Amino acid sequence: MTVSLAVAGPSAYWYLARGTGAVSLVLLTASVLLGVLGSMRVAFAPRWPRFAVDQVHRDVSLLVIALLVVHIVTSVLDSFAPIGLIDSVVPFSSSYRPLWLGLGALSFDMLLAIVATSLIRRRVGYPAWRGIHWLAYASWPVAVLHGLGTGSDVKATWMLALTAVCVLAVMTATVVRIAGASRGPTTVRAGAAALAVLAPLGIAVFALAGPLATGWARRAGTPANLLVRGSGSAAGIVGSATASPRPGTPAGPAADKLKLPFTARLTGTITQTQEPNGAIVDLALRVSGDARGELRVRLAGAPLAGGGLSMTGSQVDLSAVGLASVMQGTIVALQGQSFLARVSDTTGSSADLRADLKIDGQTGAVSGTLSAQPSSGSGP
Ligand code: HEM
Repeated sequence: MTVSLAVAGPSAYWYLARGTGAVSLVLLTASVLLGVLGSMRVAFAPRWPRFAVDQVHRDVSLLVIALLVVHIVTSVLDSFAPIGLIDSVVPFSSSYRPLWLGLGALSFDMLLAIVATSLIRRRVGYPAWRGIHWLAYASWPVAVLHGLGTGSDVKATWMLALTAVCVLAVMTATVVRIAGASRGPTTVRAGAAALAVLAPLGIAVFALAGPLATGWARRAGTPANLLVRGSGSAAGIVGSATASPRPGTPAGPAADKLKLPFTARLTGTITQTQEPNGAIVDLALRVSGDARGELRVRLAGAPLAGGGLSMTGSQVDLSAVGLASVMQGTIVALQGQSFLARVSDTTGSSADLRADLKIDGQTGAVSGTLSAQPSSGSGP
């Protein structure tokens, strides 16, 4: 049984969602700035031909959409929060931070409308295209609020600095654009300029009172069963695929306790590492269904001629939403693709875990079921 670990774990999706979120915001800001620059080319960039600015503006905007697709798909695939594809396009429909995630969906919808009408600009006509293009000025602050309201990195200095630079850049460009506009009543232009200055102030006040203050995870609408320290995180024996707890997510009595017995689904991967005097098999499994978390198993042993291992040692870690701590233990019986493990937590309560697995030796994919019940106390 020689298999290879091939898939990205949940944390990889989380890192990608955060990374693409931050880069999308920067590129969206660049797109807004290029749009403003394009409309002011005569005064501010006489050496830049209009088509060059417009072309870069268009390319950056398309890149934003491509990155946002990755951002959305990775957010959906990340197992921590219950986010579906529908939540990504239908604003405020999510059970996870509905308002703040909904603002992301709203901003994405607006961007789709802007890009779609730009691609068929001749057909929709200039007035309709221009009207929809003004949505860019709304979609950008809505995206900023979304990033602040849902982001895990909101308290990180780099993320705060990045957001502040984006906000100041768009504010400056908007004010300069309004000042340079020759048309429109003065009162309307003065109002727009005041809004451009007040909006960043509003964003700053919101950030201080909301995401930067304590208890934001709860106030933002994080489902109660996710408000637990270490949810989705195991003191993993295979660290790379472990989902991290969300910063800013408080531990607390709000968490629902996971009650035994339960039966859950297992999906994940198996890897075997050949060692000079034996082999090590690692199972990295996601637990879903009646329980949500991760099961990590490491088996050491001598390989058998016909495949499989004669076990010499093992370690089992179960982390799940609603458990007091990671439950750790060892395998007490192993037969074919099933095993029985006994694990206990820091409070001393223990459980028997029975896993029945289906292992694909070619791809390393594993699926199966996990039954957990209070430990019987006797040996295997
Ligand atoms: C214009 C559209 C969007 C922009 C510019 C954007 C940008 C961002 C930014 C800057 C963050 C903060 C990242 C961090 O803290 O490191 C973020 C977080 C997030 N976004 Fe978006 N987003 C957009 C749309 C969406 C949509 C439609 C979804 C729906 C699935 C979504 C899902 C998320 C999630 C789940 C997070 C939290 C990730 C984390 O734990 O940090 N976003 N987004």
